[in-house]
Amino acid sequence: MSSQEENPPCLTPDMHFIGKKADIVKAGRVTMRVNGCRDVLVVYHQEKLYALDLRCYHAGGLLQDGDIEDFNGRLCIVCPCHKYKITLTEGEGLYEAVDNPTIRPLKTQWRSKGLKQRIHKVTEVSGDVYVTLNDSSEAIESDVYQTEKYRTVSLDA
Ligand code: FES
Repeated sequence: MSSQEENPPCLTPDMHFIGKKADIVKAGRVTMRVNGCRDVLVVYHQEKLYALDLRCYHAGGLLQDGDIEDFNGRLCIVCPCHKYKITLTEGEGLYEAVDNPTIRPLKTQWRSKGLKQRIHKVTEVSGDVYVTLNDSSEAIESDVYQTEKYRTVSLDA
């Protein structure tokens, strides 16, 4: 048994139960309205859990069917709508920039547009998975799509 298992994190009131880890691992993706106010996507990928706002910062596309891909060592969810890339751990938007458009063949590299998608904290306690909402007062572009106007999809309560 690892020391992490011997000393699991304490539950706090801001931790919201999402589900059993075994069920999330099996499903791969879980969507949920957390604390009655925020639609969140929890992703299990390569033995790690991630939580982020469900709707893409670009135009509110639903991210739960997005592929997970690595871009220059950064794991991203790719929005199914217009293929925007969002890093799973930071919520940064990535884009492929051309170094110098006058030089052929074109050389590109992945660059960050900065923080675009709100990322939330995931905690596992004794096989249960909890999300703590990122309540930073800093406005993040994905916040725009956390209103009733965009909640056309029914989620678990
Ligand atoms: Fe996600 Fe446009 S809505 S890329």
